[in-house]
Amino acid sequence: MPLRRKAPLFTTETMKGRKNNNLSVFVVVFSIFLFGVFMYNEDVKSIAEFPFSRPKAQEIQEGKSKLIDPVHEDDKKEDIGKSVIGSVSLSSRTKLEETQDENSGEIQETIDLKSIIVKEKEEEEEEKEDKEEKEEKIELPVAKEEEDDEEIELPPEDCDLFTGNWVLDNKTHPLYKEDECEFLTAQVTCMRNGRQDSLYQNWKWQPRDCSLPKFKARQLLEKLRGKRLMFVGDSLNRNQWESMVCLVQSVIPPGRKSLNKTGSLAVFKIEDYNATVEFYWAPFLVESNSDDPNMHSILNRIIMPESIKKHGKNWKSVDYLIFNTYIWWMNTFNMKVLRGSFDKGATEYDEVPRPEAYRRVLKTWSKWVDKNINPNRTKVFFASMSPLHIKSLDWNNPDGIKCAKETTPILNMSIPLEVGTDRRLFVISNNITRSMTVPVYFLNITTLSEYRKDAHTSVHTIRQGKMLTPEQQADPNTYADCIHWCLPGLPDTWNEFLYTRIISQS
Ligand SMILES: *[C@@H]1O[C@H](CO)[C@@H](O)[C@H](O)[C@H]1NC(C)=O
Ligand SMILES: *[C@@H]1O[C@H](CO)[C@@H](O)[C@H](O)[C@H]1NC(C)=O
Ligand SMILES: *[C@@H]1O[C@H](CO)[C@@H](O)[C@H](O)[C@H]1NC(C)=O
Ligand SMILES: *[C@@H]1O[C@H](CO)[C@@H](O)[C@H](O)[C@H]1NC(C)=O
Ligand SMILES: *[C@@H]1O[C@H](CO)[C@@H](O)[C@H](O)[C@H]1NC(C)=O
Ligand SMILES: *[C@@H]1O[C@H](CO)[C@@H](O)[C@H](O)[C@H]1NC(C)=O
Ligand SMILES: *[C@@H]1O[C@H](CO)[C@@H](O)[C@H](O)[C@H]1NC(C)=O
Repeated sequence: MPLRRKAPLFTTETMKGRKNNNLSVFVVVFSIFLFGVFMYNEDVKSIAEFPFSRPKAQEIQEGKSKLIDPVHEDDKKEDIGKSVIGSVSLSSRTKLEETQDENSGEIQETIDLKSIIVKEKEEEEEEKEDKEEKEEKIELPVAKEEEDDEEIELPPEDCDLFTGNWVLDNKTHPLYKEDECEFLTAQVTCMRNGRQDSLYQNWKWQPRDCSLPKFKARQLLEKLRGKRLMFVGDSLNRNQWESMVCLVQSVIPPGRKSLNKTGSLAVFKIEDYNATVEFYWAPFLVESNSDDPNMHSILNRIIMPESIKKHGKNWKSVDYLIFNTYIWWMNTFNMKVLRGSFDKGATEYDEVPRPEAYRRVLKTWSKWVDKNINPNRTKVFFASMSPLHIKSLDWNNPDGIKCAKETTPILNMSIPLEVGTDRRLFVISNNITRSMTVPVYFLNITTLSEYRKDAHTSVHTIRQGKMLTPEQQADPNTYADCIHWCLPGLPDTWNEFLYTRIISQS
């Protein structure tokens, strides 16, 4: 029997608070934007280097009571939009302050989006000049790649790609260089953000019983010709989307590729192949009060587990769909489930245990897929959970601070590892994806990523669009992001699995 809540005063207040915020946020956004553009014009370009920044996954929850999670006692406080900034203050207590803080984070994001346009224009012009000067240089590697028509050896269909180990291979990895992918956001460019060690880029996933094929961007692009590939989900899927953009963009000449973000959708377009690599923001897959791409960081998260059409209509007629949903489930033990519809102004909700709500959501999702996807046209993937590393004792490092300072993966795989992943959700998603009419390829990335305590952005990232200050970087306990991943890095491996599957299909 779910715990029932009848529109508590608190909820109503929060919702009202939000509405009022919309206006004030707009005003603040606009003022800051004007300020940025007219006062600090030279800085626009550097601000623009943080395009899709969102408030970082900070576990700063001063004044907020810890949630006890039976699966993993503490540290279950996620993040995604929890951040603290002092500049805009409200008179009321923590909850509202945090909401406001999050909105401040989103303000930065809005600025960034506007700046992108400026950046893109600048770059297009630069690129035009570059192109004229460097025509030969650009064409050389392209020609070389075309000659490089050695057969790609595909692993046998029944090989379990996800069981294996990490091996150091600095000849083949990283698959691209951080500073050669202009589309990377400052959230993930760890080296540029001051990270000193780079070994985390050199690990290759070696399946036990076969090998992953060499990644060839053109091979993938041929498969994507005239097609759309779309990641759908939360910021971890966005992390993977950024990786995929970088993996393919290197073989596309300047001016023949573009990035356009409108609302919940970000589209990377590759002109010569008439192909797109897209990301669609839907952190719970179903409808929720966290769906606004710019104002999604709602503390009091409420979902509508049976409601998916609004999002789903944007997924129809996509050729490759990669779904995920995890991190947003992790900061409360129970999930708030709306009774009724946001559209009709409902505010009452039930509190449902996390696994139960997760199952309902994935049932809704699977029914949608079975009903709306033609498997002859569209290939569907589901990515299992991306793990967190927030307690260094989990890997027996009493001197560690969360994931900060970790420079190597966990290599001894015979020691059982438990980093607090909610495995119940893994079982649910694995079972549901296996029971569908439309075949779904389960990207089983959870365990292999659990070994990668070294691969998170940690303190080498941004908050609210700004680089962490040296003081903040010196305080990983408060500021380290042990949820998202550096690029190049681990999400490239996730995309190697995706690549393998896509090029294996006729
Ligand atoms: C997922 O991969 C891990 C190893 O990385 C393996 O132990 C596990 O059995 C796999 N699970 C499924 C459902 O394939
Ligand atoms: C790769 O690793 C080898 C052996 O550790 C080292 O000698 C070499 O300098 C490395 N190469 C690069 C490009 O990092
Ligand atoms: C480009 O791709 C889209 C699908 O993404 C397709 O609808 C359209 O017909 C293609 N255009 C051309 C000229 O091939
Ligand atoms: C970006 O996409 C939106 C929606 O498809 C479109 O209206 C807009 O013109 C595009 N912007 C650019 C710069 O292409
Ligand atoms: C998919 O293709 C197969 C074989 O061509 C055909 O029998 C089937 O009806 C198609 N399914 C759909 C949903 O179009
Ligand atoms: C891995 O851990 C096991 C269990 O603690 C230990 O016996 C073994 O020696 C370790 N292996 C390596 C290579 O360190
Ligand atoms: C998942 O599937 C396995 C194997 O079919 C079954 O044993 C297990 O009970 C299922 N678990 C859930 C939670 O559905």
